Amino acid sequence: MNRPIPNAVPYLGGNEWQYLKECLDTNWVSSAGPFVNRFEHDVAAYVGAGHGVATVSGTAALHVALLLAGIQPGDEVLVPALTFVATANAVRYCGAVPVFMDSEPQSWAVDPEKVREFLSREGEVRDGRVVNRATGRTLRALLPVHLYGHPADLDPLLEVCRRFPLAVVEDAAEALGARYKGRRVGAHGLVGCLSFNGNKIITAGGGGMILTNDAGLAQRARSLTTQAREAGSEFIHREVGFNYRLSNIQAALGVAQLEQLDRFIEAKRRTAQAYTEALTRLGGVEPLGEAPWAFSTFWMYSGLLDPARYGSAREVIARANEEGVQFRPLWYPLHRQPAFAGCQAYRIEVADRLHARGISLPCSVGITPEERERVIGVLARAQR
Ligand SMILES: Cc1ncc(COP(=O)(O)O)c(C=O)c1O
Repeated sequence: MNRPIPNAVPYLGGNEWQYLKECLDTNWVSSAGPFVNRFEHDVAAYVGAGHGVATVSGTAALHVALLLAGIQPGDEVLVPALTFVATANAVRYCGAVPVFMDSEPQSWAVDPEKVREFLSREGEVRDGRVVNRATGRTLRALLPVHLYGHPADLDPLLEVCRRFPLAVVEDAAEALGARYKGRRVGAHGLVGCLSFNGNKIITAGGGGMILTNDAGLAQRARSLTTQAREAGSEFIHREVGFNYRLSNIQAALGVAQLEQLDRFIEAKRRTAQAYTEALTRLGGVEPLGEAPWAFSTFWMYSGLLDPARYGSAREVIARANEEGVQFRPLWYPLHRQPAFAGCQAYRIEVADRLHARGISLPCSVGITPEERERVIGVLARAQR
């Protein structure tokens, strides 16, 4: 029996043990400590952001980032339909409502042209805010997601969000290290968010980070993630905050992982290249490649199956999983989720097509060439 091949698992090959031991030896195990500060500093410096504020999860980072962007109950936020549910959940945590947008076919991320079309047709700028004609609610922000390690086409998105004034909050949870026109993603908008959960390119066991170039916003993020306690010895709280701070133990793991990130990206890109070469020979799979603006980390290696060659993508995924090779479907489009029934969705066609045909292949940092061959073998046998 062959060993199972997981979809994406951590690679703990650096100073993880040593830094964790340091936490235990020094008694710094909780929500303060030198690794938290170091992790924030090192991640922000890596991305090229002025400030980083570490959080317990990427979802918590998104929640606070949206509050920093001024999202209020009853507002609306433009969210891609094709993303993990956390992106839209964070909007709901603010009492706001997601409006779902389509993907563009090259990057699978939110389509700038359709965002522009939606805002031109459905949005009306009144007193400096954008009102959604269909719902009467204020459209406050756009939340582009850099999907599967590939950057969204940011320039046209930023441009349209200047014309129809919307805050841009980047969800870079899946794309630490990816570059848009040479600049790493996460600090192109007002605020950006990262995730360090177990299957991300680096993990802190769990965790996230808020990135911003605005010192005032960073300070407010620091306050909101630590119960919004005023400075001083008394417990004074002028607003309702959250217990969202990352622990020193998690940050220690994160620091050790960050030291290896460039090697991890190289490994992911090597896997992507190997898969793409093999799939070109095999035929019938259209991989998510790299758009002209992109340096992708290939956090997840994904592609579209030709139904004439493979039949149903769901069946291929099920068969692979039966063989112990963990294929995954793409994210289930959010406008079809029961939890978001009734939310507006604008002309979504591409995201549904991608979801029907898309699969993600095993792509852990530590995957071996032999394991990759087994993955390709599963696909070869699935062909008609
Ligand atoms: C696009 C996206 N946004 C947000 C998150 C949330 O991150 P976390 O699991 O750390 O809360 C994830 C990953 O889980 C994600 O893939």
